Amino acid sequence: MTHAPLRSIHVVAHRGASEDAPEHTLAAYRKAIEDGADALECDVRLTADGHLVCVHDRRVNRTSNGRGAVSALELSDLAALDFGSWKTREAWRGRASDNEEPDWEHRPEDREETSVLTLERLLELVSDAGRRVELAIETKHPTRWAGQVEERLLTLLKRFGLDAPASAAESPVRIMSFSARSLHRVRAAAPTLPTVYLVQFLTPRLRDGRLPAGVRIAGPSIRIVRNQPGYVERLKRNGHQVHVWTVNEPEDVELCVELGIDAIITNRPRAVLEQLSRM
Ligand code: G3P
Ligand code: CA
Repeated sequence: MTHAPLRSIHVVAHRGASEDAPEHTLAAYRKAIEDGADALECDVRLTADGHLVCVHDRRVNRTSNGRGAVSALELSDLAALDFGSWKTREAWRGRASDNEEPDWEHRPEDREETSVLTLERLLELVSDAGRRVELAIETKHPTRWAGQVEERLLTLLKRFGLDAPASAAESPVRIMSFSARSLHRVRAAAPTLPTVYLVQFLTPRLRDGRLPAGVRIAGPSIRIVRNQPGYVERLKRNGHQVHVWTVNEPEDVELCVELGIDAIITNRPRAVLEQLSRM
């Protein structure tokens, strides 16, 4: 499938193509790359033995067959779990009424496809993609580790030659967080890496379109964009890019285009790209 080459709005696959495949798995990210996503979003957490893994929740209970906090488990514990079958069960539940097979088309035979995904493995996948695929990496709850998440993250990015881009515009990686402190740590150690401040609630300062010092990209929720007329305009007037999450509904895609949003973060990259190509 091809998409308009002059499309200026970037489509970011939220946790991979997470509508079709289990979030944060190799299967979901491969699907997002196949679908033509410009970038992949992932959340990162540290395991008890210091590995960065792509998991959204504090605990593994929702997305695996195990239990417990990521921070209390070692990578080998996580590697023994299945991060895929919950999605298949969800598909079954959705179709229970008509008694059909679940239509989840990505039930990989290869166990790695639905195992816990390390950030290192995701970086390898992106390096081997054969085209530019950007990564939007979100640091989750970095307070517990007092800087270790960012330190490990930057060490890993350095190994892939991604920690010191010539300029923010050229960087295929950006770091996102709800924590201004986490972004500050990243900027102090890697000043040219772009950072995104995620916004879920507006303080008066944020409402004015201002961001923490040094941050150039705002990441408001679609709910804020819908309900706060003029907010995106104020951000733009202050020279900020705007990346909006999580945009799954066609009318929200339309709104983002109208407002001149720079990046749409979505669970449905293929559907959003198709909609954009028709606009
Ligand atoms: O892309 C930002 C968005 O992912 C933030 O919310 O809860 O999905 O990590 P959450
Ligand atoms: Ca996230």
